[in-house]
Amino acid sequence: MGKALVAYFSASGTTARVAADLASAIGADLFEIEPAEPYSAADLSWTDKASRSSREMADESCRPAIASTVADLAAYDTVFVGFPVWWYVEPRIVDTFVESCDLAGKTVVPFATSGGSGLGRAPMRMQNLAPAATVLSGGLLNGSPSADELARWAERALRG
Ligand SMILES: Cc1cc2nc3c(=O)[nH]c(=O)nc-3n(C[C@H](O)[C@H](O)[C@H](O)COP(=O)(O)O)c2cc1C
Repeated sequence: MGKALVAYFSASGTTARVAADLASAIGADLFEIEPAEPYSAADLSWTDKASRSSREMADESCRPAIASTVADLAAYDTVFVGFPVWWYVEPRIVDTFVESCDLAGKTVVPFATSGGSGLGRAPMRMQNLAPAATVLSGGLLNGSPSADELARWAERALRG
């Protein structure tokens, strides 16, 4: 796997927990994809068409700003990218990350938490945004998997 980074976005803490557990289970570094403008509870309301998340997800080209960048991305061969499923795909801020980083030549493994939906077209979308990377199909990490389960999941995910 070489040197690995676990980069994640989390609006309400669930993906943050599993990202930290994954990084510690596989000995990877951890990076938070932190929004320049944090999401409030009202921003996350999916029943409100006018909420920030609804507006962002309705706009394919929306790229919310990220507060900081990965210090030495060139050092990593493998980048796990974690996010909550929003409207069946990755949140637009994850698109900001994937597009703005130089992921050329790296293996990218998407993972997500959700209320039950799978990753849907997220891996394919991420591959389109980072054509010079190899984006694998990844998977869901719902339900507090153990360190052993996470290490085995990562091994399987890297086999493609
Ligand atoms: C705007 C928004 C849209 C969501 N869309 C979906 C969805 O399409 N399918 C699903 O299963 N869960 C959906 N969820 C639930 C989140 O994916 C789930 O609660 C996730 O674990 C939250 O992770 P976080 O705490 O790291 O932000 C949505 C949540 C939000 C806020």
